[in-house]
Amino acid sequence: MKDLELLLLDCSPRRDNSTSRHLTSQLLPALTRRFGRAVHVTQRHLGVKPLPAITPEYAESLVLPVEAARARYGDELALSDELIRELDAADIVWISTPVHNFTVPAVLKNWIDHVVRRDVTFVTTEAGKVGLLRDRPVFVAVTAGGAMFREPPIQPDFFRPYLTAVLGVIGLKDITYLPSTRLAMVDAPLAAVEEHASQFIADALTAR
Ligand SMILES: Cc1cc2nc3c(=O)[nH]c(=O)nc-3n(C[C@H](O)[C@H](O)[C@H](O)COP(=O)(O)O)c2cc1C
Repeated sequence: MKDLELLLLDCSPRRDNSTSRHLTSQLLPALTRRFGRAVHVTQRHLGVKPLPAITPEYAESLVLPVEAARARYGDELALSDELIRELDAADIVWISTPVHNFTVPAVLKNWIDHVVRRDVTFVTTEAGKVGLLRDRPVFVAVTAGGAMFREPPIQPDFFRPYLTAVLGVIGLKDITYLPSTRLAMVDAPLAAVEEHASQFIADALTAR
C-alpha cells in the first residue's frame, strides 16, 4: 500500500532542545499505528529557515482575479504555488509549534499568508469564504512555557481559535490539538513532554 504523505511544518526557532520538536518526535510513530500505513514525511523547517515574507507584488495579486494575477505576477507567485502544491499533496498535515505571545509564531503566520489565496485555496461567496482544498487530518503538536489552554483561561488563547478559523477558510476542518504546556514551570521540560505524549498516544492517537 502507498505511504501516507505527511507535511510537517516545524515552527520552533530553537536548534536544540525544542519542546515542540520533541513532542512531534514522540508522537509521529503513533500515526503509522493509528492509520495502519507507513508515513512519508516532507518537512518545512519554518522556524530555523523562515520563508521570505510576502512581497508587494504578491499582496497586489491577491486583489485581482486569479487569471489576471497570474498574467501580471506569475513569477512572484511561484513560492506560494509551490507551498500550496505541497500542502495539497499531503494526506496529513502536522504542525509542530510553540505558542508565541498567545498565538502562532510569526513564521507559521507567514506560511499561512502564502497559502491562503483567493480563487486558489478559497473563494469568497455571499455567505463568506469557502475552502477549495479537500479536508484531511491536521494535527497540531503545540508547546507552551506557561499555562495556556486552561479553563478558565489564565492566558488568552488566540492560538486555537485563530488556527481553526484560518485553516477552515481553505477547507481544513479536521484539526486535533495536542498541547503540552507549563513547560517553563518544571525542572525537566523534555520529560514532561514525554509524559504528555504518552497520554496522547493512549487517547487521541490510538486507532479507533
Ligand atoms: C517569543 C516567544 C513568545 C512566547 N510566548 C509565550 C506565551 O504567550 N505563552 C506561553 O505560555 N509561553 C510562551 N513562550 C514560551 C514557549 O511557548 C515555550 O518555551 C515553548 O516550550 C517553546 O517551544 P520550543 O522549545 O519548541 O521552541 C514564548 C516563547 C518565545 C520565544
